[in-house]
Amino acid sequence: MEKKKIKITVTGAAGNIGYALLFRLASGEAFGPDAEIDLSLLEIESALPALKGVVMELEDCAFPLLKSVVQTSDPNEGFKDADWALLVGSIPRKAGMERNDLLKVNGGIFITQGKAISNQAKPTCKILVIGNPCNTNAYIAKAFASNIPEKNIFAMTLLDQNRAAAQLAEKAGVDVSEVENIAIWGNHSATQYPDFYQATINGKPATEIIPDEKWLQTTFIETIQKRGADILSARGLSSAASAANAVVGTIRNVITPTKEGEFFSMAVSSDGSYGIEKGIMFSYPLRSDGQDWNVVTGLEHNSFSKEKIAATYAELLSEMSSVKEFLDPKQCPT
Ligand code: NAD
Ligand code: LMR
Repeated sequence: MEKKKIKITVTGAAGNIGYALLFRLASGEAFGPDAEIDLSLLEIESALPALKGVVMELEDCAFPLLKSVVQTSDPNEGFKDADWALLVGSIPRKAGMERNDLLKVNGGIFITQGKAISNQAKPTCKILVIGNPCNTNAYIAKAFASNIPEKNIFAMTLLDQNRAAAQLAEKAGVDVSEVENIAIWGNHSATQYPDFYQATINGKPATEIIPDEKWLQTTFIETIQKRGADILSARGLSSAASAANAVVGTIRNVITPTKEGEFFSMAVSSDGSYGIEKGIMFSYPLRSDGQDWNVVTGLEHNSFSKEKIAATYAELLSEMSSVKEFLDPKQCPT
């Protein structure tokens, strides 16, 4: 059987996440053994020498599924015919910063890249934004990627979901695979709401297995909200391997039908579900049929959850309003 071919553009490919991600993409972990991979690696000019070294290492792995690698600093070349655009390239925060402090530094990248994807990528291209603040950067990219359906534009919150699963498993003393259905609502930021009320452990409500609701409402939520900052403070660098792992997992979540009764989290352009303004890049619980995704509807929220969702929504609205100037074509570089 002839294998399908997937062209993946990765920006910031010479950076930390890039180094943890490329080898997993090239090995077939994201798209499976029946897909041949063409990689297109986009970097800034000054990082091209380092990128060359990474590409030598890719060659030295002799991955049977990896068919070609482009190295470029030209977005138009980088996104040509892409099936997936993984937008990692951007500046990470430093200790003491919140992710949205990066908006002025990183936001402009997503204008240029949104336009280049729109002009060069396949019209079916899927865009996953990882560079922070990822929800609002995805919102900017969406505004400029006018040829790409808005349903194909995502920001990553699976890392938060994975972190939450690990913390719940540890508290409950169970294997992490027993924890399911953690909805991350809202922004990939310190206001995100990891919704333990929806989560299950061994098929039972997490709140039944972990009856310490005070811990769930305080320590658990704060641990997830601040996990990125805690890793940054411990490593002196932001998370990279776990972020790359979440990129692979997100791709698999989108391209694989979701198991009956389960869901996964990712930020998508709101369709108005749960009272969120249409078009806001909001993390929701989703299900995929392998081609298309839909927001899981009908989940009940108590007053605690409603308050948390309102807080993360308010932060996203404020981020959106602070980038309005970016979205005005008159103010934008071409
Ligand atoms: P890094 O500094 O190690 O690498 C970033 C790379 O991007 C660098 O090689 C840099 O040259 C490149 N770059 C900068 N501007 C570019 C542009 N315009 N085009 C192409 N490449 C460009 O950083 P990292 O640790 O790999 O993190 C990258 C981003 O991912 C950061 O913004 C970080 O905050 C974010 N991040 C997000 C998540 C998440 O869950 N959404 C998790 C971890 C990190
Ligand atoms: C993370 O959650 O680890 C990333 O968003 C990096 C950061 O700045 O926290």
